[in-house]
Amino acid sequence: MNVQKVAMVTGGAGSFGSAIARRLHEDGFYVVISDANLEQAQQVASKLKNTLPVRLDVTDPEGVETCIQEVIEKSGRLDVLVNNAGIGFSGDSVTAKLTEFDQTIAVNLRGVYLVTRAAIPHLEQAVSPRVIMIGSRTWLAGGNPAYTASKAGVVGLARTLTQELGPWNGTCNVIAPGPVDTTFVDNMKLAQREASFQRYEEITPLGRNAKPEDVAGAVSFFAGPDSGYISGEVLHIAGGLQLAPKL
Ligand SMILES: NC(=O)c1ccc[n+]([C@@H]2O[C@H](COP(=O)([O-])OP(=O)(O)OC[C@H]3O[C@@H](n4cnc5c(N)ncnc54)[C@H](O)[C@@H]3O)[C@@H](O)[C@H]2O)c1
Repeated sequence: MNVQKVAMVTGGAGSFGSAIARRLHEDGFYVVISDANLEQAQQVASKLKNTLPVRLDVTDPEGVETCIQEVIEKSGRLDVLVNNAGIGFSGDSVTAKLTEFDQTIAVNLRGVYLVTRAAIPHLEQAVSPRVIMIGSRTWLAGGNPAYTASKAGVVGLARTLTQELGPWNGTCNVIAPGPVDTTFVDNMKLAQREASFQRYEEITPLGRNAKPEDVAGAVSFFAGPDSGYISGEVLHIAGGLQLAPKL
C-alpha cells in the first residue's frame, strides 16, 4: 500500500489539469496524471518527480475500467478523484451542431459518471475520499446549450455523490471557474477571441480573468484536511463574474 495519498486528475495534460497536478504534487499527493493525450500527460509528469501518467479517454467505458484497475495496481489506493477533462463548442440552441452536443455530453457529463463509478469502490477504501468536479460558472449564467447542460448536470451528479459517499466519510464538491483563455477555447473558433476575454475582464468584479492556479488552489482545499465537513457545494472561482456583471 502506497503510504502517500493518491490523487487522480482527468484531463491532467491540459491547462487546468496540469496546474492541478502540480499543486496536488506540491501538497504531497502521489498524482496520477490521466489524459486522452498520453504524450502530453507524460510531458507534464516528466517535470514532476514520482507521478504516474496514464492514457484515459473518459468516453470509453471499457478503457475507463481498465485504466482505474491499472491505477490501483500501480499506486495501491485512490483517495482523491478530480474530474477535470472537458470540451466545449460555441453556438446557441439553433446554430450549435447536434454532433457537438453529443460529444460535449459524452465527455463532460457521461465521462464524469463513467470515471466516478469505476473509482467509487476504491475511493470507499480511503479514510476520507474526495471527488472534485470541475464545472463552470456557465451552469448559472448559460452559454452553449450542451456545455451549460453538461456542467449543470455535473452539479446534479455531485449531489447524488454527496449522499452516496457520506457514509464512507467522503465528500463531493464542484468548482465552477470563470473564463480562462486556454486550448479549451480553440474548439469554439471565436471570431473575436481576444476581445471576448478582454470584455470578461472588464465585467468581472475582481477585474481580471481566472488563472489555472486559482482553480488548482480550490482543488487543493477540497482535497485537503480543512474541507472534510463540506460536501455538495458549488464553489465559483470566477472573481465574482457568476453574479450580475458590474455596470
Ligand atoms: N478554460 C475555461 O475557460 C474554462 C472555464 C470553466 C471551466 N472549464 C473547464 O475546465 C476543465 C479544463 O479546461 P481547460 O481550460 O484546462 O482545457 P484544456 O483544453 O486545456 O484541457 C482539457 C484536457 O482534457 C483532455 N480531454 C479532452 N477530451 C478528453 C477525453 N475524452 N478523455 C480524457 N481527456 C480528455 C484534453 O486532452 C486536455 O488535456 C474542463 O472541464 C472545462 O470545461 C474551463
